[in-house]
Amino acid sequence: MEFDPRRTLLLYAGSSHPELANEVGKHLGVDLSNVEIQHFADGEIYARFLTSVRGADVFVLQTHSRPVNENIVETLIMIDALKRASARRITAVLPYFPYSRQDKKHLAREPISAKLMADLFNAAGANRVMSVDLHAGQIQGFFDVPFDHLTALPLLVEAVREDVGSDVVVVAPDAGEVKDAEKFRRKLGPEAGLAIAHKRRDPRVHDAVDTLGIVGDVAGRVCVLVDDSISTGGTLAAAAESLVANGASKVYAAATHAVLSGGATERLQESPLSKVIVTNSLPIPPEKGFPKLAVVSVGHIIADAIRAVFEDESVSGLFDGDN
Ligand code: R5P
Repeated sequence: MEFDPRRTLLLYAGSSHPELANEVGKHLGVDLSNVEIQHFADGEIYARFLTSVRGADVFVLQTHSRPVNENIVETLIMIDALKRASARRITAVLPYFPYSRQDKKHLAREPISAKLMADLFNAAGANRVMSVDLHAGQIQGFFDVPFDHLTALPLLVEAVREDVGSDVVVVAPDAGEVKDAEKFRRKLGPEAGLAIAHKRRDPRVHDAVDTLGIVGDVAGRVCVLVDDSISTGGTLAAAAESLVANGASKVYAAATHAVLSGGATERLQESPLSKVIVTNSLPIPPEKGFPKLAVVSVGHIIADAIRAVFEDESVSGLFDGDN
């Protein structure tokens, strides 16, 4: 079968993570196309695409690091401009989906901000969305357009395999992570066990956690905590302490999104964790790095998924259906 020679793939980067966008472009063998992004004196954002996008299959890569809200509006404005310039299809490639932890109401009179984000991307004109390891897979249902949910779990498994060996216990740091921890365990091999930390959060106090205990046998075993994101590092630090108190011999952590906010760097470095493995779904500036941190790249995963979408091939096939 041959390509329709009239079809064009264009890749654009928002301001948040040019390194990742360039890496994705290199894997795809395409240069990033030019977009002019400026700020008016009052802070409003202006975007203009410098060459025609008419009829093109356009991918806009933007992750949602700080300044989060600024990056969201920039993405929306870029998508709006592409829609008005007659792009044939616009895919928002959002490695870290914004507001994804606010995917349900915990208290009365709260927003469901992840749903609001989906509505905004829909309204701007995204025909398709791609993201990596959502906080909850159900966020895909907030959209009425196709959603490609990629996962970095296989990458993290391979990154940790050599350190942890096969006699290891994979630990979910809270109930919400059990499914991913079980997937991680299966990929590590038949000897790996599963345990769950009992995490408690007061919904009125943001960014604070307690780990009350461990369900499962970890005494004398190497453990690997698996999470979708690390924000303040409180969840992983508290779970690691609890694992050590329950006799774990060593504790590693693997997480997709290194948000690393509010003292996370110091907290994780000083925690009982031996190593923290994350991906580059978010930029990690040098001041957020620490000796125990190791970073693996999701660039090729995103590039493979973009290529599959462009060529109308299976995205789930890239993950053996386990995404
Ligand atoms: C929330 O439940 C997520 O899965 C992570 O556990 C959370 O983002 C970690 O946040 P923090 O690092 O601030 O404890």
